[in-house]
This record gives sequence, structure tokens and C-alpha cells, in this order.
Amino acid sequence: MELQLRSSGGDPTAARGTIVFLHGFPFDGSVWAAQLEALPEGWRGLAPDLRGFGRSDIHADPGIVPTGADVGTPVAKATEPVLTMELLANDVAGLIEREEAGPAVVCALSMGGYVAFELWRRRPDLVRALVLVDTRSEPDTDEGREARMRMAQTARDAGAAAIAGAMLPTLLSNRTLDRHPEVADRVREMILQTPPATIIAALAGMAIRHDATGDLPTITVPTLVVVGEEDPITHVDHARAMVERLPDARLEVVPAAAHLPVVEQPEAFNRLLADFVRRLEG
Ligand code: MLT
Repeated sequence: MELQLRSSGGDPTAARGTIVFLHGFPFDGSVWAAQLEALPEGWRGLAPDLRGFGRSDIHADPGIVPTGADVGTPVAKATEPVLTMELLANDVAGLIEREEAGPAVVCALSMGGYVAFELWRRRPDLVRALVLVDTRSEPDTDEGREARMRMAQTARDAGAAAIAGAMLPTLLSNRTLDRHPEVADRVREMILQTPPATIIAALAGMAIRHDATGDLPTITVPTLVVVGEEDPITHVDHARAMVERLPDARLEVVPAAAHLPVVEQPEAFNRLLADFVRRLEG
């Protein structure tokens, strides 16, 4: 089984280009619903469910999923699968090739950004431009890895509902939580659909991810860095530090949003995206 996909924008030959949307953890391609509904004119959008998430099987073809024993991280037990960023990036490269979408604009949220960095390291020929949303180039700190171990244990013991309860207050701004319960419900529902095995596997993969900071000066394609003003996970300082190292990047801070500006402020985000891709057309 290949990666499952939501798409919008029709005929690849008529398109001005393709935007490949990479979701964060522990979501699926539907986090980009508002972007697929309002794509910039003439552009095609592809929003895969990354391996193990949404409707994509963790053992999707091709590729063998390593285990905790293979990669040597304590976040996953010896026999539990690990979703490395390398594996996820290879999947995305395969998808771009299969869909004849390259080089594509890669618009990536948080964990999706870690995958995008890995894609750039492996297959820069497939990347036309980058939109990095609420993500960071640094690897986990020791403290961060310990937090991932605790979260993996919570997923084993209490399932996705406990993960949703713990994560929601950090994903959404207080304003969204107070005034837009429907947005919180949608995000909670996406997390509840994520199998605990995928949650553990992705936590383990993120815990051993490569430090992409040294790669930033090599990213010569136009890059838009977007961050929610109130993001407590990947805050504005992370975004600013990346922009300073990227050769061709611009920073946009989205007010009244935390970690998920794409769902909290979709109209503002879509305007930024449309403006960015329009500049690529010329
Ligand atoms: C995400 O939204 O993908 C996660 O917050 C990333 C992470 O846990 O580092």
C-alpha cells in the first residue's frame, strides 16, 4: 500500500506547480484542509498522510520500518517500530516522483519540517521552494528526549486520548481554545485517529533526528518561515534563528495563533502562502 493522499487543483500539466503539504505530529493530511480548499490559483496541492498516520499504513510500501533495537533509542522498545525522518523523507521523495510533482514547493508543519530538512539533504532536486511552519532545525535536547520517553509511555498506557489531553493546550492559543471549541474538537479528533504505535514510533524518530542547523546555509531555494506568535513548542526565536542562517528566507509571524496557524488562522496563513508562491511564478 502506498501513502494515502488528499489532493486539490487538478491536472498536473496545467498547474503552475505543486505544493506538497507535510503534516505535523500527531496529525494527518487533513490538517491542511483549509489550504487545499483555497489553493493559490493554478497550483496543485498534495497532502499525504505520512506513513502510520491517517489512512497510511505504517508498513506502507516500499521500505522496511526499523525498530527500537535497530536504531538504539530508549523512546521505543526493542520490538516497536520507529518512524525515522529519513524513512518519511524517502516516502515523500517517492510520492513527488510518482505524482510527477517535482520540483515542488514543500510546505511543512513542525515534524513535517524535520522531514523537509531530510528531503533537502537527500533530494534537493525535488524541492523548488520551502515553507517552514512552526518548526526548528535543532535536534532534541536531553530534556526533550526524556519528555518523549514519558509521552511514549503515556501512549502505551493510556492511548491517544491522553496524548490529545496533554498536547491540546500547547498546540492552540488560549483564544482559540476559548472562542473556537470546534477547532479544538477537530484537532483532538485528528489525534484520536492516530494509533498509539504510530505516536510512539514518531516520538522515537523525532528523538534521534539529525541536527539540520548546519544544513540551513545550503538551502538556496526561496524559503518562507512562518510561526504562530504564541507558539510554546517552536517559538518565534527558533524561527528567527533559522531565517538568519537561510540564504533566501523571510519570516512571517502570525498573530493570535500558537503551534497551528494553519488551522487557527487559515485565512492569514493562506494569504502568506499565496503571496509567496506568486513570487515564484515570475
Ligand atoms: C509537531 O507538531 O509536529 C511536533 O510538535 C513536533 C515535535 O514534537 O518536535
